[in-house]
Amino acid sequence: MLEALKENGWAETSGPLCNFDEILLSIGKNLGRPISARGGIGLVQQLSPLDKANGYPRSLTSKFGMSSFPFHSDTSHWLTPCRYIILGCISPGAGHRTTELARLDKLDLTSSEIKFLHNHPFRVINGSKSFFSSILGHNRPFIRYDPGCMQSASCRTDLSNEILSPQRLENISEQISWFAGKIIVIDNWRALHRRSFSATNDKDRTLKRVLVI
Ligand SMILES: [Fe+2]
Repeated sequence: MLEALKENGWAETSGPLCNFDEILLSIGKNLGRPISARGGIGLVQQLSPLDKANGYPRSLTSKFGMSSFPFHSDTSHWLTPCRYIILGCISPGAGHRTTELARLDKLDLTSSEIKFLHNHPFRVINGSKSFFSSILGHNRPFIRYDPGCMQSASCRTDLSNEILSPQRLENISEQISWFAGKIIVIDNWRALHRRSFSATNDKDRTLKRVLVI
């Protein structure tokens, strides 16, 4: 798995549902230290499409509800976003939505686009812990990108919607289809991800997630 993670920025495996949480945690402990997304929830978080009203404040669900999500890196509102995301499927749901992964180093960026990603300031909204950051940094190895919690903090034109547009990222993205028991590990520092669209109400789609630092 480590080889595939290094090579592709993500890796996949599978496991029995009877002790799924333990398997996800064990993968996490092999990669680093599993960490809770926020206080009050455990190390293994259950994720399903929800209506906007049921989303956690400032989450993508609170903005996009049951729709598709924009490409993003998880925990972008942390000073250092988590290194890995482990997702395991309990049920793919009636809509059979895919998860899409896009490695930024596969994008054919111009030098001015790279400059923008390094220099344009964004306010990263996290209540009293909000801070300013760019999408890329010369002194750090990770991407920080989440349109849900990042707002342009410059009067200069925000080009992130063009540089990281869905159309452009779709050209380099990989589609992950789910089945019960499937597990993927995403290198959150290198690959953006998103949940695709479903025309079918699929509140029965259930994934489990472990974040690893
Ligand atoms: Fe995510």
